[in-house]
Amino acid sequence: MPIMEPYRIKVVEPIPITTRPYRELALARAGYNQFNLTAQDVTIDLLSDSGTGALSAEQQAAGIRGDETYAGSRSFFRFRDVVSELTGYEHIYPVHQGRGAERILFTSLLKPGQVCVSNTHFDTTRANVEIIGAVALDLPCEESKDLDSDHPFKGDVDLAALEAVLAGPEDVGLVLMTITNNGGGGQPVSMANLEAVSALARKHGVPFFLDAARFAENAWLVTEREPGYGDITPREVARKAFALADGCVASLKKDGIVHIGGLLALRDPELAQRCELLLTATEGFRTYGGLAGRDLDMLAQGLLEVTEPTYLRARAAATAYLADLAQQGGVHSVRPTGVHAVYLNAGRLLPHLPSERFPGHALALELYLAGGIRCAEVGSLYLGELDEDGTMLKPAPYELVRLAIPRRVYTQSHLEYVGEVIQGIAKDPERVPGYRMVYAPPLLRPFNCKLEPVAHQS
Ligand code: F0G
Repeated sequence: MPIMEPYRIKVVEPIPITTRPYRELALARAGYNQFNLTAQDVTIDLLSDSGTGALSAEQQAAGIRGDETYAGSRSFFRFRDVVSELTGYEHIYPVHQGRGAERILFTSLLKPGQVCVSNTHFDTTRANVEIIGAVALDLPCEESKDLDSDHPFKGDVDLAALEAVLAGPEDVGLVLMTITNNGGGGQPVSMANLEAVSALARKHGVPFFLDAARFAENAWLVTEREPGYGDITPREVARKAFALADGCVASLKKDGIVHIGGLLALRDPELAQRCELLLTATEGFRTYGGLAGRDLDMLAQGLLEVTEPTYLRARAAATAYLADLAQQGGVHSVRPTGVHAVYLNAGRLLPHLPSERFPGHALALELYLAGGIRCAEVGSLYLGELDEDGTMLKPAPYELVRLAIPRRVYTQSHLEYVGEVIQGIAKDPERVPGYRMVYAPPLLRPFNCKLEPVAHQS
């Protein structure tokens, strides 16, 4: 069945078509780290769905309307009205991207030694908690640990564990639910789970926030999978989710469908005042927060478009289609497929590679060598514990590769191409070499490390 993208193309951008010898050279020059590749080296870029979406004609038009007044621009009020209608929060601040909101909220709210509990912190979120001396604690539900289970809401937090932490001796400063759970295979959180978290947080007097980077995609999966929500719109579901929390941080580079932008929104006026000080000092005045007027106007429009059921249905279908193509080639991915990405199970496809040979990274690089496809490892390279010489002390629990799908950018035929490349690799997986770490920086390893291929010992 064709997916029928619910838009037609008005502006096109050529994509580089390269040869395998070109890619071999480019990858060697990049130190076998795909973050060092440049745009002209990459044919299909599935590295991130963040800031990589296509603007609509209405967003472009809104951008022209952007008001670049320093303080009190009309663009801000248009942005604020849309966010206020969507979230119901009173204090609404634009920021340059998600991590800007995280830093401001955590600095204003958390004290050193306090705990921030989450289903799963995204990596910058964790870093922003840890930077101020607080502890980031992930409590994903049991079902999330079985990659093959078709449990519909593997993004849920483990409620019993959350309750135990809230009732225990730890000083919990914040409960933060990531919707959808990017660090946990792009899995959604159910409304039932959010309601229970909200009640628990209230009972224990702890603030409850959402990391709402992919709020619309979470809402779509709720309408599809949760009993009682089939007849209401994704926008209504999103509104209900926001209503359960005290506020949110959000990277709007995802479900805002813009190239840059983020949001901090909250109810508590006293906390808002503290956040506003930091906002002005580090991002920008409260009516622009580091963004241009045109960004705010494009965001206001993007936040209306992103909850349209026709758009969300086609996007979810495209992602599921890619997962099916991989499955047809015998390559498993995290089940059930979410919306923003397919997470391939590289560990299962490449059992000849132990974790210290980085099977996830090896598969990601093979996708590049075979087809010019760029994507990211989510396995031992990213999450494993290594010593100073690069020796593996503790591997990651899974060796995955994330194929993140930019919004409104690639068509079904692009995904068919990606599917074919995956299927080609899966015909002879033993040919995929492992990699050895030759340089590992102490921080932010995936972005700056260098590797080299290791010849097969047969
Ligand atoms: N929270 C989640 C769940 C995210 O996925 C991201 C970014 C952030 C926060 C930080 O937002 O980048 O605007 O500062 N995720 C991107 C990705 C980078 O590729 O998944 P940011």
